[in-house]
Amino acid sequence: MKIVALNGSPREQGSTSALMNEALKAAKERGAEVKAYFLNGMKIKGCQSCYACRAHGQCVLQDDMQELYGEIANAAGIIFATPVYMWQVTAQLKAAIDRLYPFLKPDHSSYLAPGKKVLLAVTQGRPDTTLFHHYFEHVGKNLSFLGFGEYKILIAGGTHKPEELLEQTAVLEDARRMGIWLAE
Ligand SMILES: Cc1cc2nc3c(=O)[nH]c(=O)nc-3n(C[C@H](O)[C@H](O)[C@H](O)COP(=O)(O)O)c2cc1C
Repeated sequence: MKIVALNGSPREQGSTSALMNEALKAAKERGAEVKAYFLNGMKIKGCQSCYACRAHGQCVLQDDMQELYGEIANAAGIIFATPVYMWQVTAQLKAAIDRLYPFLKPDHSSYLAPGKKVLLAVTQGRPDTTLFHHYFEHVGKNLSFLGFGEYKILIAGGTHKPEELLEQTAVLEDARRMGIWLAE
């Protein structure tokens, strides 16, 4: 089974990567094949609203998203990792999420095979991890609507620097548990 992670942080060695990697490590130890994509280093244009995907089921924009379509379709689990920016996902991740529109059929059913698991792995500067939870529920529900299955949300707070994440042993343990869940 394959687990694909989309990292929306602009800092490749930042807190979000550290959180995401902990989950990926646990999934790999359980025998999953894992692959992480650093969206900030990829060419992913914002959706152009051409609706060609509605006619053909495929996005006509020829950029790095094309690789992700295949990877996501073949994955059993997907990690959407992001720091909170202005109470939301980063622009890098939002661009990729908008581009998931081709997975939706015109009748709003999904081209995706059922049963995919999703982990939303989030870091934020504010220590109170309840602050944006409702927003990430909203993101998770939107992904379920697109055809992704069950989702779980993991939020680490007070993580401006990766060291501030790495000292949170309970959160790291949660990340490992989530990685195992993805690989089950
Ligand atoms: C532009 C910007 C906006 C941010 N907005 C928020 C925010 O709304 N709430 C919050 O708690 N932290 C906010 N932060 C802090 C980051 O979420 C936090 O430092 C995060 O853990 C960094 O992850 P990274 O190491 O992967 O870059 C913001 C940081 C930046 C640069």
